[in-house]
Amino acid sequence: MKSATELAAEQAAFWNGPGGKMWLASYERIERTVTPFGEPALAAAAAQPGERVLDIGCGTGGTTAMLARAVAPQGQVLAVDISETLVTAARAQNIANATFAVGDAATQPFEAASFDLVFSRFGVMFFGDPVAAFKNLRRALKPTGRLVFVCWRTPQENPWGLVPMRAAAPHLPPFERPGPEDPGQYSFGDRARVERILKEAGFGAPSLRPLDLPIRLGKDMAETLDSIGRFGPLARLFAEAVPAQIEKAKAAVAAALKPYETGDGVALPGACWLVSANQH
Ligand SMILES: C[S@@+](CC[C@H](N)C(=O)[O-])C[C@H]1O[C@@H](n2cnc3c(N)ncnc32)[C@H](O)[C@@H]1O
Repeated sequence: MKSATELAAEQAAFWNGPGGKMWLASYERIERTVTPFGEPALAAAAAQPGERVLDIGCGTGGTTAMLARAVAPQGQVLAVDISETLVTAARAQNIANATFAVGDAATQPFEAASFDLVFSRFGVMFFGDPVAAFKNLRRALKPTGRLVFVCWRTPQENPWGLVPMRAAAPHLPPFERPGPEDPGQYSFGDRARVERILKEAGFGAPSLRPLDLPIRLGKDMAETLDSIGRFGPLARLFAEAVPAQIEKAKAAVAAALKPYETGDGVALPGACWLVSANQH
């Protein structure tokens, strides 16, 4: 079994390497996909003028910009991401009341009891030791502070990810599947696990609200196949495969996604938790 340090190092290497590059190359498409999940989370967070906010795993800073607007003119956002590639892109927005930092949010020495809100859109599922990481985030919150984040539920509840993966996998080189306690996209899918992590980190009783929305993978099958080859778990596997395997995998994905073609593109169900908790 890998140690928390090894797991954290793997995540840092991924997001500073192929993960960050792929995210950046597709970020406009990704932003369109994740915005409908981020909006209810931002509404639940209800950042107020003058507040100090921490945006965890901010990526290219889409939510940072929205949080900065909500707390302006006097409030401030500190946005942290482990990927220098993505933070560099985020900084280019030149947001007057936001500061961006490259760092591991799990261990970053944030000023204690200084934030009103810790927020994240899909940025908290990658910690090697999630309890220690959430303890660190809780320490940064004022006693009256709140935590709000959105994360994916299980793969089975997210056919937009599972259907292409199941269809493609038999045609691709074998790969290691993450264990239930390993960091990754779906690592916060299990309600009981999220509740346990937050409780052990010292937060007050968390609320987990399901958020179910369709995910449009592309405007048609061609765009969908292009998109899955450029970003996400399948793109990672394609990087290890030879062209003949990729061709077979893409044909299998097209067949599996056929039932999900609509007049408005290829769309499948997506499922998240909208999680909120008070500092104590
Ligand atoms: C799925 S992306 C979400 C990005 C952004 N929040 C958004 O919604 O567009 C996950 C982000 O978390 C970042 N990340 C992963 N582990 C991290 C850590 N330990 N500390 C800070 N950021 C981390 C990645 O670099 C990546 O930008």
